Amino acid sequence: MANIKYELVPNEEREPSETKPSNWIVKIFFLSLVLLTLAIYTLSSADNPLKSGVAPDSSTEDQTEISTTANMDRVLKSSTSLPVTAESRTETLYALESNGKKYFVNSPQCQMGHPNPFASNIQHIYKKHSYIVCDKSPDMITVIFNQTDSTYRLHKNENSTCCFKQILRAGSSTNADHQYKLRPCVEFQQDLLVPTEVTAMITYCRRPPFDKVSQKDAFSFVHPRKDRINNPTSLHKRRPSVLLWGIDSISRMTLELTMPRMFEYLNSQHWFELQGYNKMGDNTFPNLMAILTGFNKTYANARCHPDKVRGLDACPFIWKDFKDKGYTTAFAEDWSKFSTFDYSSRGFFNPPTDVYGRPLVLAVEKELRMTQQGQMPYCLGRRPASEYIYDLGVQFTKVNRNSSFFGMFWTNTFSHNDFSMPSAMDERMVKYMRTLDKNGIMDNTIIIFFSDHGARFGPLRKLDSGFVEERLPFIYIRVPRWIREKYPKLLRNLQVNRNRLASPYDIHATLRHILELDTPKDKLPRPEGCSTCHSVFEEVDWSRNCSQAGIEEHWCTCDSLSEVSTTDSRARSMSTQLVESINKYVASKKGAERCRRLKLSRIFSVQKRGNSNRYLIQLSVQPGDALFEATVEWDTSARRIPVQMPSISRLNIYAGKSGCSSVKETRKYCIC
Ligand SMILES: *[C@@H]1O[C@H](CO)[C@@H](O)[C@H](O)[C@H]1NC(C)=O
Ligand SMILES: *[C@@H]1O[C@H](CO)[C@@H](O)[C@H](O)[C@H]1NC(C)=O
Ligand SMILES: *[C@@H]1O[C@H](CO)[C@@H](O)[C@H](O)[C@H]1NC(C)=O
Ligand SMILES: *[C@@H]1O[C@H](CO)[C@@H](O)[C@H](O)[C@H]1NC(C)=O
Ligand SMILES: *[C@@H]1O[C@H](CO)[C@@H](O)[C@H](O)[C@H]1NC(C)=O
Repeated sequence: MANIKYELVPNEEREPSETKPSNWIVKIFFLSLVLLTLAIYTLSSADNPLKSGVAPDSSTEDQTEISTTANMDRVLKSSTSLPVTAESRTETLYALESNGKKYFVNSPQCQMGHPNPFASNIQHIYKKHSYIVCDKSPDMITVIFNQTDSTYRLHKNENSTCCFKQILRAGSSTNADHQYKLRPCVEFQQDLLVPTEVTAMITYCRRPPFDKVSQKDAFSFVHPRKDRINNPTSLHKRRPSVLLWGIDSISRMTLELTMPRMFEYLNSQHWFELQGYNKMGDNTFPNLMAILTGFNKTYANARCHPDKVRGLDACPFIWKDFKDKGYTTAFAEDWSKFSTFDYSSRGFFNPPTDVYGRPLVLAVEKELRMTQQGQMPYCLGRRPASEYIYDLGVQFTKVNRNSSFFGMFWTNTFSHNDFSMPSAMDERMVKYMRTLDKNGIMDNTIIIFFSDHGARFGPLRKLDSGFVEERLPFIYIRVPRWIREKYPKLLRNLQVNRNRLASPYDIHATLRHILELDTPKDKLPRPEGCSTCHSVFEEVDWSRNCSQAGIEEHWCTCDSLSEVSTTDSRARSMSTQLVESINKYVASKKGAERCRRLKLSRIFSVQKRGNSNRYLIQLSVQPGDALFEATVEWDTSARRIPVQMPSISRLNIYAGKSGCSSVKETRKYCIC
């Protein structure tokens, strides 16, 4: 078996892409041919239509309680533009474009707008980047992976002396997830076999005359599980592996705008999109907790105590269920300070998964040179920070590919603070996907490529499309062929759900479904935080509303909004009362005493939500020019908003201005 370079994706960014045009043309031609054949095959196969927006054949014996035919009748009445032919009698149930307006979801209960990601006001603030090479110097070390026995060797590419420091998890009690330590530097000879206890290292190489370090680098190593080496799970009783591959803060719209190659790749392969995927809470924590535990935010905090030592360790994360079924697990996330389980939290006392990326991330952030881009720690040493995470993902899946695994790989450092930056990772992301494919990972892995929410602050959020931008992350699901063939009905459901309302709770239910694909749907467990949510392999009721999907009113994109004058006395009352609510809320929290009292400065807009008595208000306050958006309910007779604090978005960045509060929940309202 040939050696495979650990350097997993070709470094084509370092050379002009015109160098090998013929090679590319041949590849593209070949690919097109394959795709064409596939398309013909698919179109001719009646039970697996791949056309986007195609609804299921409703003639199956196993009808769901929601009669598709009945739905269709209702829909056909409201549908304006769709031709209904014999073959396409169950074609998209309702028009996704009507009166010149486009929708992701369009039902009487949910009109979810689909703003143009290429609108001129967006183009105006968008700055396209190409791949950023963190270090142009040649690699002094290449890691060579032997696929036969899953071992690694450190190959020196030139005459040099090199040593490595092993990275270990360190820290105890409150610091358990926040510290690392380095072992003394061990000098090594050419092609050193990496010991299996070493999972991450920093290397130091010197060129003659060997007086100073010429190149530092960092590597991670995933070794086979000791109990698996001579006992791989046999193929026929294998369960599908699961890979969650996520990017923080990218909306559906921004994916299309900034990652066109990835977008094209996803749409040309066996990826199923959920265009009506609406976030259920404000930021990363609630949305990822809904996926990983099925809990709402209040319950996640109460049950999992992220602020307490060992709190999160006792939390029933879904990866534990996979682990119980014999899966090997992994979790890794970049940008240690803002990591989902560590931002103002204690993180994990013990590693939560078999493979855990955090010690590596802590070490490379501290030991290697960091270069900022878009106010993010973009480059760490010789690579983008995000690539340590994805490289680990590739390594983890490769080593475990003959058994079942559950891996989650999440990045923040090329998307969180600047909506344009994902463009720098566009081509690279396609390469990662191709690498997974080439490594055979896609043959047995359900891959979920997704984000948690869109841009929550910054110039993009301030545009008209900002309402949708913030609330609609992207999500695509890839299903291996054997599952597509064995469970055609589940796949048809997934296709139908493309333009239905979905939420992170549904993804939780889907993961539970993957654990038991043969269980009938009414026997499948429902998420604790949303008992009406279910697997996306089951058809989502076309008339679903946000409360049925576990999405709180404020974050729901289903309502049409109608302007109310901001000078209206009602608008004024609502706004002052809202600011008062914020002040009261902050004042009630111990540890937030140093936050200043806020005063209404300007009302930007007031919009009525659908036909309800709820209003979406955008306003700014002083001091600090903080910008808020909230949904408030207006009691017309009492001329009051409810006493309890409504859900609120903070539309400008607050990190750095709210440090005087020790209460995480108050930070977005706190001006020091
Ligand atoms: C890879 O490992 C196998 C098994 O240990 C060994 O026989 C083979 O020579 C190795 N390949 C290389 C290129 O080192
Ligand atoms: C490496 O460099 C040293 C110092 O310049 C020299 O003595 C040695 O012969 C070189 N080794 C090789 C293999 O080129
Ligand atoms: C997985 O199985 C294939 C086929 O049996 C084998 O060639 C390959 O080396 C195995 N890979 C690993 C990482 O065990
Ligand atoms: C959150 O979930 C818990 C437990 O399922 C439930 O009791 C509570 O009412 C929910 N809270 C909200 C705000 O939905
Ligand atoms: C959502 O739909 C359910 C079932 O039809 C209904 O009871 C509920 O009132 C609806 N919620 C909203 C906010 O419209």
